[in-house]
Amino acid sequence: MLRDIITYPNPILRKKSQNVEEFDEKLHKLLDDMNETMLHYGGVGLAAIQVAVPLNVLIINLPIEDELSEDNGKQLDENLIEAINPVITKKDGELVFNEGCLSIPDYHAEIKRAQNVTVEYFNRYGQKQTMEADEFLAVAWQHEMEHLTGHVFIENLPYLKRKKFEKQWKQKLKNQKKSK
Ligand code: CO
Repeated sequence: MLRDIITYPNPILRKKSQNVEEFDEKLHKLLDDMNETMLHYGGVGLAAIQVAVPLNVLIINLPIEDELSEDNGKQLDENLIEAINPVITKKDGELVFNEGCLSIPDYHAEIKRAQNVTVEYFNRYGQKQTMEADEFLAVAWQHEMEHLTGHVFIENLPYLKRKKFEKQWKQKLKNQKKSK
């Protein structure tokens, strides 16, 4: 089932998410819906809070170029990462990456992040997992985990860029209202 993605500046996005206690049907339904929603809107990551569920749950599904061409663009489910109660246990290095977010549609900006991260999390069955990630995948982990703390990526922008964004965004929301 497709769920609605809430967009900036909806105050729900500022909520701090809570840990999942039960790895049950309800969690599996949430994960399935999140995956369907993310693919529908063409995202590569989604945190539960973006569908208004304040739980420490996120999914990441990065396109892999080789597989994309072999499988006629069909996204393989094997690439899907489902993470419950994730914690970053190690961060290293630095990189700048052009990020976007389904909650801030059509806006991209370069953000500085750690180059490598080690993450501990649980899969949908409550089994503990560890993953080392770098480059785009490390960025995706850090971006999605930021959502769980009630923050969005534009908060990392330097002051003037942030101001410029807020001005553009206000104008965009105004124009949307007018055209409705
Ligand atoms: Co996002």
